[in-house]
Amino acid sequence: MRAAFYERTGAARDVLQLGDMPDPQPGAGEVRVRLQWSGVNPSDVKSRAGLRSSTLPFPRIVPQSDGMGVVDAVGAGVDPGRIGQRVWIWNGAWGRPFGTAAEFIVLPQRQAVPLPDAVAGEVGACLGIPALTALHAVLMDGGVAGKTVLVAGGAGAVGHYAVQFARRLGARHVVATVSSETKAALARSAGAETVIDYRRESVAERLRAAVGAGGVDRIVEVDFAANAALDLELLKPGGDCVVYGSGAPQFTLPFFPLIVKNVRLRFFIVYNLAEDERRAAEDTLQRLLVAGDLVHNVAARLPLERIAEAHEQVEQGRVAGNVVLSIGR
Ligand SMILES: NC(=O)c1ccc[n+]([C@@H]2O[C@H](COP(=O)([O-])OP(=O)(O)OC[C@H]3O[C@@H](n4cnc5c(N)ncnc54)[C@H](OP(=O)(O)O)[C@@H]3O)[C@@H](O)[C@H]2O)c1
Repeated sequence: MRAAFYERTGAARDVLQLGDMPDPQPGAGEVRVRLQWSGVNPSDVKSRAGLRSSTLPFPRIVPQSDGMGVVDAVGAGVDPGRIGQRVWIWNGAWGRPFGTAAEFIVLPQRQAVPLPDAVAGEVGACLGIPALTALHAVLMDGGVAGKTVLVAGGAGAVGHYAVQFARRLGARHVVATVSSETKAALARSAGAETVIDYRRESVAERLRAAVGAGGVDRIVEVDFAANAALDLELLKPGGDCVVYGSGAPQFTLPFFPLIVKNVRLRFFIVYNLAEDERRAAEDTLQRLLVAGDLVHNVAARLPLERIAEAHEQVEQGRVAGNVVLSIGR
């Protein structure tokens, strides 16, 4: 099969290669998926760049965890009726050497989830990380029905979904921060009632004018290192600060506001969701996908051969939305 891979960490253009690899065969409990789309996420880019560790966990890595394709073979114990099923993939490259930047992937059948017919294939490559992260951030700890929610970075791959999920799951008012007019339009199209340019406006003033002086019930945070102090100022007593990203590896937190406000501070990584959390997010996602009223923002589509360029686009934040690679077309 045709695949993209790397055997050392470094700059995209220096380490990503294209080549042929043996076609993988499904073992017991596994499916083989002929991939059509592979999603590129910041996490894939950070691993390839060596930001987490310069030592590779496997001698060769086919990057990317998210993908979409069609089941074309099954291993022992898997219903042969799955052959021909359109599926989206999660954790394709998490703790595994061979992810979705290839013509085929073999993985436990649970990690290949049926994709509703009406949903475009490329969208399926944006669900495993961006959509499930956003959904878990909204659903966790009792959800957001009747609550006010601030989504930091409401035009990002995760943030754009988080705004939509918060609205569709009953939030009373969704506020999003952005950094440009283009991003403001994206956050509004996702359903944010109040959109604040955090580089040019006072987030605190605008947010309080929109939801009241008491602040918000939940914050879905993309960059805790940059926004922690502001978040603690804007959170209601007993509110949830749900952190899924940080622009810096370390940060300091002010103890007093955290403790007097009884803040519930939560961190999570989507790769390590507990089975019941993943099921809850997947089931809700399936329902929303079938309802057909989600807005998906696939901002760039490149062929697999241009994987280095795709990594650079994600790395440099050059596109507002998801970046996907087309495979085998
Ligand atoms: N925990 C998890 O499981 C998980 C899952 C997915 C992603 N992540 C992490 O979350 C981050 C975002 O991922 P993504 O795929 O959504 O990336 P993305 O598409 O690049 O979106 C990030 C968004 O955040 C905005 N932003 C950056 N700094 C900000 C700040 N200080 N305040 C408000 N907005 C800010 C960016 O726009 P501007 O820079 O123009 O403001 C951009 O719109 C990455 O660090 C990624 O590794 C974690």
